[in-house]
Amino acid sequence: MSNKIGFAVLGLGHIGQKHCLHICENPKAVLIATADINSTLNFEKYENQVNIDNLLSNTQIDVVNICTPNGLHAQQAIQSLNAQKHVVIEKPLALSTADCEAIQQASDKNNKFVFCVMQNRFSPPSQWLKNLILTKTLGNVYSIQINCFWNRDDRYYTPNHWHGNITLDGGPLFTQFSHFIDLLYWIFGEIKINHAQFENFNHKHSTQFEDSGIVTFSIKSGGVGSINYSTSAFDKNFESSISIIGEKGTVKLGGQYMNEISYCHIKDYEMPSLEKSNPPNNYGNYQGSASNHPYVIQNVIETLNNKSNPHTQVSEGLAVVKIIEEIYKFRK
Ligand SMILES: NC(=O)c1ccc[n+]([C@@H]2O[C@H](COP(=O)([O-])OP(=O)(O)OC[C@H]3O[C@@H](n4cnc5c(N)ncnc54)[C@H](O)[C@@H]3O)[C@@H](O)[C@H]2O)c1
Repeated sequence: MSNKIGFAVLGLGHIGQKHCLHICENPKAVLIATADINSTLNFEKYENQVNIDNLLSNTQIDVVNICTPNGLHAQQAIQSLNAQKHVVIEKPLALSTADCEAIQQASDKNNKFVFCVMQNRFSPPSQWLKNLILTKTLGNVYSIQINCFWNRDDRYYTPNHWHGNITLDGGPLFTQFSHFIDLLYWIFGEIKINHAQFENFNHKHSTQFEDSGIVTFSIKSGGVGSINYSTSAFDKNFESSISIIGEKGTVKLGGQYMNEISYCHIKDYEMPSLEKSNPPNNYGNYQGSASNHPYVIQNVIETLNNKSNPHTQVSEGLAVVKIIEEIYKFRK
């Protein structure tokens, strides 16, 4: 028990329960405590501590996994870092670059790690695509199109929930599609936002922000791209895809969270066989991104045992928030 990493999970909703489960499944981790302001929630036999100060004073806890609404991540992460805990922070890192920078400063000051959760990076097609660009197999990249058309209706945006609230949720680019912005950043580096326009088609009664947008951007190497997204698709998620038109080939990833290669035609290239992707997280009426959280927990353990580094660094979580912030500057 003594050489196991001690975890606590803050927020016991959909994703917090998964963190608890995957911590308990990992032989090198031990779940010490859980906390949620909703005292009716708990994970298995663990007592819900409700009070975060009690949780943070427990010296058996090495790492706090922050699984609360987006708008609370920064304050709770800083409090945990100042209590000498490492933190795993669910996506998005925070809702502003200023908050991300404050997290980064608290991490540096206390010499504690921040692990951002961007678990789609672990999916074999994402890694394949990153390698394809890294090795310049497509030659010059001319154009990139990201399409994300999901369903989030009244089953998701229920009254008085954090979903749909501008200060706790922030909007679909933060809550639904930040994984895909991360993929863009992870593969192509910093991007320049040229224009964005937004619409609220069928969520005027349930959200404080738009449900759809069209964004155009440029990448450093000269190519251009667009992001076309919506949470207004009828009844269920329709698609998440990225298409890349390059000098020497054309590729498209599709599927629920860009977890399938739907097209690949590249000069003198033989497609390798990839491992099967994990299924998406299923939340009953709606589906989310990759069920890859065990890799995140494993990365924390390896990093704290000096065998790895955070898979998604705080600077990268910040860069993704910065891109979203740049896009949302076009909100009227
Ligand atoms: N990586 C992914 O694929 C993924 C998937 C789903 C959600 N998320 C992220 O995880 C976070 C939580 O999302 P969710 O779907 O689990 O939401 P949820 O509403 O199901 O759960 C959030 C929980 O936080 C609790 N909470 C609220 N305020 C609190 C406070 N001050 N202290 C302690 N607990 C508090 C709520 O009572 C609730 O139980 C969000 O940031 C979301 O963007 C990430």
